[in-house]
Amino acid sequence: MRIVLLGAPGAGKGTQCKRIAAQHRLLHLSSGDILRHHRAAGTELGKKASSFMDSGALVPDEIIVEMMIDAIKKAPVVGFILDGFPRTVNQAVELDKSLALANQQIDVVLNLKIDDRKVAKRMTGRRSCPKCGAVYHIENLKPKVEGICDNDGTRLIQRPDDTPEVVANRLKNYHRQTKPVLDYYKNNPDSPTVYDINADKNADEVSALILEKLDALVKT
Ligand code: AP5
Repeated sequence: MRIVLLGAPGAGKGTQCKRIAAQHRLLHLSSGDILRHHRAAGTELGKKASSFMDSGALVPDEIIVEMMIDAIKKAPVVGFILDGFPRTVNQAVELDKSLALANQQIDVVLNLKIDDRKVAKRMTGRRSCPKCGAVYHIENLKPKVEGICDNDGTRLIQRPDDTPEVVANRLKNYHRQTKPVLDYYKNNPDSPTVYDINADKNADEVSALILEKLDALVKT
């Protein structure tokens, strides 16, 4: 199965992708995580992406498309779930072209729906593990020991792009550049199955909604 997970910044894409990937044995490919790894490693790509990420702007398509298509080509045959990519219509078109060359296509698009005010609160309360990438929230999804990752005991950090000003810019860019990607998938004649998911529920309830849809699809 090849899945794209869409949704506003903070809608819960990373949280849900980790769960879906584990349940369905898929490779989880997060464009944001890959960019942060490049940044931490000081690569040329990471240096080019930094200023865009810090301001809440999208990194230019030519950087992202090559980076993600490379990662997808290395994916195991069993499938993948894309988190944060495609984020512009041009990225979606390039992804489709690249998959078509290998006689593949996106099978399912899951769209996490939630109000902007709620995601802003989620992002400013988010804490992440710099080592394993686990994501927590200071109120909604607390670690067992405050400020410490359950998996490896690493001190949790706040992402530099989770300040209120940058979050506002990320949301603005989401509405302007990423929402049209949903219409692209809904209107495409070879379109994959598109499901809207109510993401304004607790993380377990959202996972249950998603898994119900995917399980039904696998059975058919
Ligand atoms: P990226 O890392 O992809 O950020 P994002 O899309 O803005 O998404 P987030 O990671 O902020 O949120 P999420 O939806 O994964 O939510 P999460 O599960 O963490 O991208 C960062 C930057 O990289 C971009 O701004 C851009 O510059 C660049 N970039 C990346 N991809 C690009 C592309 N394709 N093209 C161009 N540029 C690109 O959850 C958020 C919080 O809420 C957490 O604290 C979590 O614990 C909590 N939470 C989750 N679910 C629930 C729930 N159901 N109830 C309550 N709390 C919840």
